[in-house]
Amino acid sequence: YVIGIDLGTSSVKTVLVSREGEVCHEASREYPLIQLQSGYSEQDPEEWVRQTKLCLKDLLLRAAVPPESIEGISFSGQMHGLVLLDEEHRPVRHAILWNDTRTTAQCREIEAKLGDRLLAIAKNPALEGFTLPKLLWVRDREPECFRRAVTFVLPKDYLRYRLTGQLHMDYSDAAGTLLLDVGSKRWSETICDSLGLPPSLCPPLIESHACVGHLLPGIAQETGLLTDTRVFAGGADNACGAVGAGILSPGETLCSIGTSGVILSCETNRDADYQGRLHFFNHAKPDAYYAMGVTLAAGYSLSWFKNNFAANESFGALMKLAESVPPGANGLLFTPYVAGERTPHADSLIRGSFIGMDSAHTKADFVRAVMEGITFSLHESVKLMRAGGKTIDTVVSIGGGAKSEVWLQMQADIFDAAVVKLGSEQGPAMGAAMLAAYGCGWFATMEECAARFITRSNRYEPRPEAREKYARLFDIYQEVYGATKSLN
Ligand code: XUL
Repeated sequence: YVIGIDLGTSSVKTVLVSREGEVCHEASREYPLIQLQSGYSEQDPEEWVRQTKLCLKDLLLRAAVPPESIEGISFSGQMHGLVLLDEEHRPVRHAILWNDTRTTAQCREIEAKLGDRLLAIAKNPALEGFTLPKLLWVRDREPECFRRAVTFVLPKDYLRYRLTGQLHMDYSDAAGTLLLDVGSKRWSETICDSLGLPPSLCPPLIESHACVGHLLPGIAQETGLLTDTRVFAGGADNACGAVGAGILSPGETLCSIGTSGVILSCETNRDADYQGRLHFFNHAKPDAYYAMGVTLAAGYSLSWFKNNFAANESFGALMKLAESVPPGANGLLFTPYVAGERTPHADSLIRGSFIGMDSAHTKADFVRAVMEGITFSLHESVKLMRAGGKTIDTVVSIGGGAKSEVWLQMQADIFDAAVVKLGSEQGPAMGAAMLAAYGCGWFATMEECAARFITRSNRYEPRPEAREKYARLFDIYQEVYGATKSLN
């Protein structure tokens, strides 16, 4: 067996997977977000470690497999979060997460100091969510913490460090820091020097399938695992989500709707150029990359709506409501900018809207409009990829958006592409398990592993009438951003 651990934003999930790719058991545990003020989003790294240990213990107890049959463990993790460590590798403060937007001033500084070189080296623009501006924020606003910091890592790297005592960062997650030269896979001295950061802050780099070592004796004892179990580096949650959905060759595209939503397409050409309008990161597969667009509040928009206006209804019941409404939500249009927007606007201040409200509208129309708005936002990324020359005719859908027929069909209609669902979906945790399986040498290639571990099930084709309706609405949707921008 292998274990995949996905350290998410709201919970940690572990899966136990057999050599045949069968998910035998899973366990998950939640932890809170700390939001001290609007735009702030932090977590206590100690909480990740505590909950992961409990989660592994639970998994082992329930699975009732001999611990010596577990050959490898690997990780997937929420991207970009800054975990600053002191000399003894203790966090100097709470982690500042990917969805924290306090760093606008630092983004402007990065742009001013690096200019065009940033895009040429890091392949991405300065965005509030990325790690580098967070580092500069701590330097500017909490100099005492910064002074004590000797290195930084990302959330799952810290977790892996606590389980093994080995400190590394894998390329797929390092790409999201804005400090990596994405093409040459080295920390960029130019970026460090221009901002006055000592390059020694950057941790050692490693491939996602590389073995970093073994579990520490104390961890083995607490969880029921053995110190013989090999631990592999793992990758960024989006890269692992892609691995777990079999997105490993150019032209294969993923739509993942979780708290945030992404459209991700695999690339092997490291010179692919989207002018920074899409993210471009190293994949968890060696020498592969991916282009990605992010909707900041995807599932988050729907949970926001549910929490405030339909708290007693399940997501399943909301999907049923949405099914009763025709495409276009009877003229109600939603923009999902409730926490700002990443792609294509890179605007942390923009806020969302409902447009076209009619006294005849019901909750069902609102739910449908929210789902359509989220999907329109993701379609902006599909459109940018197509404009960059990519063919997107099939999209594998995972996450919350793949749990309901109505949303899967909506994705096909809005993206104007066939949408495919996976047979059994475990998200990034499965990608992490696959990295462990490949790392253990069970398969000669990651493609072979995918062929064994992943099955595809239902396929949804775009329906001509709905597709045309959505194409018209999408034109209006795109105008709303400019028209509402000055509200903030
Ligand atoms: C990607 C991003 C999010 C997080 C969620 O750039 O910020 O998708 O990875 O964990």
